[in-house]
Amino acid sequence: LAVVILISGRGSNLKAIIDAADPLVDIRAVISNRPQAQGLTYAEQAGIPCEIIDHTQFADRATFDTALQICINRYQAQLVVLAGFMRILTPAFIQHYLGRLINIHPSLLPAFKGLHTHRQALQAGVTEHGATVHFVTPELDSGATILQGRVPVYHDDTEEQLAQRVLQIEHQLYPQVIHWFAKRRLCLQGHQVYLDNQRL
Ligand code: GRF
Repeated sequence: LAVVILISGRGSNLKAIIDAADPLVDIRAVISNRPQAQGLTYAEQAGIPCEIIDHTQFADRATFDTALQICINRYQAQLVVLAGFMRILTPAFIQHYLGRLINIHPSLLPAFKGLHTHRQALQAGVTEHGATVHFVTPELDSGATILQGRVPVYHDDTEEQLAQRVLQIEHQLYPQVIHWFAKRRLCLQGHQVYLDNQRL
């Protein structure tokens, strides 16, 4: 499976996908919208081509997304993986990759959309939190859930402790979902996700 991974920063999910070393998964390129993204070093160490498309150099989202699309398509990606990619994508871009564009979000969606999800979870006083891998659809952090992982929230947790606990789960979820996709076990029809032809 030809995969292109989009990052903006630390890249620990990228590293987890690289370290999984799935023989069915060919990471063709890593694209960052930030020239300084730490995660680029993981790609370089693994000999994966790196591309930088600096969003500050583009007049608007549409032109940035067009450049992104051209770059992704040069690698003939069958799956586009958002791994800490901190840009909102245009509906046109999302529509183009519908069913082959996935994201990981650090909460049990539909709870805690948007940013600072661990802070949101602590403020809400939930006892369980986690992460969600989902197909990207035009609504931000919306439905089309593929897989979730859960962690307990302890009463004295700091935001950092909770983030670390969730991150460990993220690093298991993402390689698993990409493996399923490579095995052609996953598909999106409308807003419905199917695994082995069963509705999730
Ligand atoms: C992760 O928590 C992910 O769920 C969210 O952004 C963070 C990226 O972390 N979308 P990293 O760059 O993969 O370390």
